[in-house]
Amino acid sequence: MTRSNYFIDRGMNGNTPALPSRSDESFVDYVCEARNVLLHSRWKETNESGTRKLTEAGIQIEHTAQGVEAVRGMIRDDVELASFMRVKRSYQEMYKDRIIDSLNTQRDDWLRKLSEAETTGPGSLEYDPDFPMPDYAKVQIHIQPKGYVGDELAGLFYDCGTQIFFGGGNAGDVWHRQLAERTTLPEDGKVDRILEIGCSVGQLSCELKKRIPDAEVWGTDISAPMVRYAHWRAIEQDMDVHFSQMAAEALEFSDNRFDLVVAHILFHEIPRPVIEKTLREAFRVLRPGGTFVLWDFATATEEKNGYGGLHGLMDSADNGEPYAPGFVTMGVEDTIKSTGFVLRKVGEPAQMHDRVCDKPN
Ligand SMILES: C[S@@+](CC[C@H](N)C(=O)[O-])C[C@H]1O[C@@H](n2cnc3c(N)ncnc32)[C@H](O)[C@@H]1O
Repeated sequence: MTRSNYFIDRGMNGNTPALPSRSDESFVDYVCEARNVLLHSRWKETNESGTRKLTEAGIQIEHTAQGVEAVRGMIRDDVELASFMRVKRSYQEMYKDRIIDSLNTQRDDWLRKLSEAETTGPGSLEYDPDFPMPDYAKVQIHIQPKGYVGDELAGLFYDCGTQIFFGGGNAGDVWHRQLAERTTLPEDGKVDRILEIGCSVGQLSCELKKRIPDAEVWGTDISAPMVRYAHWRAIEQDMDVHFSQMAAEALEFSDNRFDLVVAHILFHEIPRPVIEKTLREAFRVLRPGGTFVLWDFATATEEKNGYGGLHGLMDSADNGEPYAPGFVTMGVEDTIKSTGFVLRKVGEPAQMHDRVCDKPN
């Protein structure tokens, strides 16, 4: 492949580093826009014809592994639906591969920057090189090579790579800023300590700190590459946030420590038993009257459009998200209540919405 090889520090796009070459940036911008066109221009028709074809084939719309397999079988034999899924996945693979190739040209610089940030503030960083990583966390989620935990630059790859899921529209972390602003607080309004679990590169943690500057804010994630990069990224914004490598299902915090705990798009990426343990941990570390806000996808019971829901599940399979079907079928609201929370509010089911869970006084 011939391409411009001016690999230089090209600054930032908002809080996300720009790719080191202009040709790489224009390539990924093009792929992202092509994917936007595909999704936005073909979604309605694909959804409608998928629903019709499912009905004609007598395939039950079930949010189960068998249900998904039946639909995937039908898609394989249907040129329109198979092409849609194939092209969508190809765009994502092209995007991700180019980003990783591009950023790897500056690998040594990045490793140095992350090391230097470790002893710099504001904020703090804790991680354990000997962390006992569970197997479920080692999968290649989002078809990101080596997943969230297998490459020292996984946080950087994630920051740049997930822009495609936001259609290129999350530069400056605008999505996370809106989430932070819309996060429901405890009813008594007291928010001295905030915890984000599964924080990845710390976008929501930092935006919550901007919303409530006097609060002590912690971002935790099972992946050391994520928290190391989150710390670097927070320093760039002069944000005093604490990042620590921790499993959400085994939080190393004392009981009743936090006023607010948030999880954004974590639950559909962990197995069901881990979700159950994580809810118990969120409950434990919240003070009485504290609030847990769960932002994630609609579940099968909330999803009104069967084919659309199944399409989401297939996308999850194509997109390397093996635990998403477990999340959408588990009835998370029941688990929330059986953990002891009072479910104050369930947001309007959209692709992503909030469940506001209070720990009783
Ligand atoms: C989709 S990302 C979350 C994104 C982030 N919350 C945001 O707002 O953009 C999922 C994250 O959860 C982390 N993760 C997976 N299993 C975990 C666990 N058991 N405990 C804590 N973090 C976990 C992954 O390393 C990954 O960074």
